[in-house]
Amino acid sequence: MNPLQIGNLKVNLPVIQGGMGVAISLSGLASAVANAGGIGVISAVAIGMTEPDYMKNYREANKRALRKEIRKARSLTDGVLGVNLMVAVTDYEDLLTVALEEKIDVIILGAGLPLKMPQYVIDKGFKNIHAKFIVKVSSAKAAKVIFSFWAKNFNYIPDAVVVEGPMAGGHLGFKPDDLNGELVPLGDLVEETVVELNKFEQDFEKEVPVIAGGGIYSGKDMYEIMKRGAKGVKMGTRFVTTNECDASVKFKETYINAKEGDITIIKSPVGLPGRAIKNSFIDRLNSGETEPFKCYWKCLKSCDSKNVPYCIAQALHNAAQGNMEKGFAFAGSKAYLATKIQPVAQVVLELKVEYYKQKYMEYIRNFLGQRLVPEQIKLPNVIPNINIRLA
Ligand SMILES: Cc1cc2nc3c(=O)[nH]c(=O)nc-3n(C[C@H](O)[C@H](O)[C@H](O)COP(=O)(O)O)c2cc1C
Repeated sequence: MNPLQIGNLKVNLPVIQGGMGVAISLSGLASAVANAGGIGVISAVAIGMTEPDYMKNYREANKRALRKEIRKARSLTDGVLGVNLMVAVTDYEDLLTVALEEKIDVIILGAGLPLKMPQYVIDKGFKNIHAKFIVKVSSAKAAKVIFSFWAKNFNYIPDAVVVEGPMAGGHLGFKPDDLNGELVPLGDLVEETVVELNKFEQDFEKEVPVIAGGGIYSGKDMYEIMKRGAKGVKMGTRFVTTNECDASVKFKETYINAKEGDITIIKSPVGLPGRAIKNSFIDRLNSGETEPFKCYWKCLKSCDSKNVPYCIAQALHNAAQGNMEKGFAFAGSKAYLATKIQPVAQVVLELKVEYYKQKYMEYIRNFLGQRLVPEQIKLPNVIPNINIRLA
């Protein structure tokens, strides 16, 4: 397993933990993943909901809470830390400012095209920026739009790209119709994005790693997608059922109790589809009920707050706190595989063992020839567990 190299930043474990809001990936999870060698990511969206004055001072509460969580995470790890920013939120530039002021290592920009981001950074007078900028897209075409715009207007391109497929947890950058029937394979999206970025890499003499996300749950998944050209993976769902994940135990238990058929697509007030675990809250909404709420501020640029049936930020925060009657859990397509809550270090060890089992199984099959290894022999079980030191 090669480290993920983003410019001069070396990440020993090529795993970015997905930022998960509201208040699901804070300093606890992020520092644990960073300590295990990956990039631990704090989700910034509506993070101020963890502060007592959010309803009155939402902007200040968000900035204060983000700063607090970054500093707390930094006190717990010397590893690589990131912040996940959703371009679709009203105060995204405020949160970007805090992340830059706190000298975060990595900034992941998703849920919209961050076309003007470099202009904001220039206008604000930030110089000698330490952070690497990673853009999250759902297609090679979207990557091209961002790269072309930045290249043309700022003579600069992002440092890495996350391409996220339709199996991911959370909001999906796909149209509802794209999620019916056969889904576009993540491996294809990765290959297309690698090809698309080639020209920019040459023009700027800069390597831009493509990182794959969405439905990646095991080390085997990691191995397979990295064979298609991904230099790393982004995983959210797998890190929910960890001791260090900042959500309540009740939230984590919804994953453990979920069956494959419970994982469903919802229509979010954000205007995008999302993947979540079906529960009574979702059933009530599907049957036409609404969850009346008072909108204190329009936290999402696109939210039609007077007409949407519920407040998504509130529902997600309620769920993170364990109030599943008033919320629901976003989850990737493989959330049903969770069986227990375990330490992040254990998850990472399992990922490495699974990855190397897959890799050696492939070597053996290639060496012996496919036909000499009957299908009924499960090579992963034959190959003894490999002791791998945690990075
Ligand atoms: C519970 C949960 C909450 C999430 N919240 C956010 C979020 O607030 N902002 C965001 O950009 N992505 C969010 N995501 C997406 C993750 O950052 C990541 O891209 C995704 O989990 C990868 O797919 P996977 O869950 O199949 O691993 C969330 C995902 C989950 C599972």
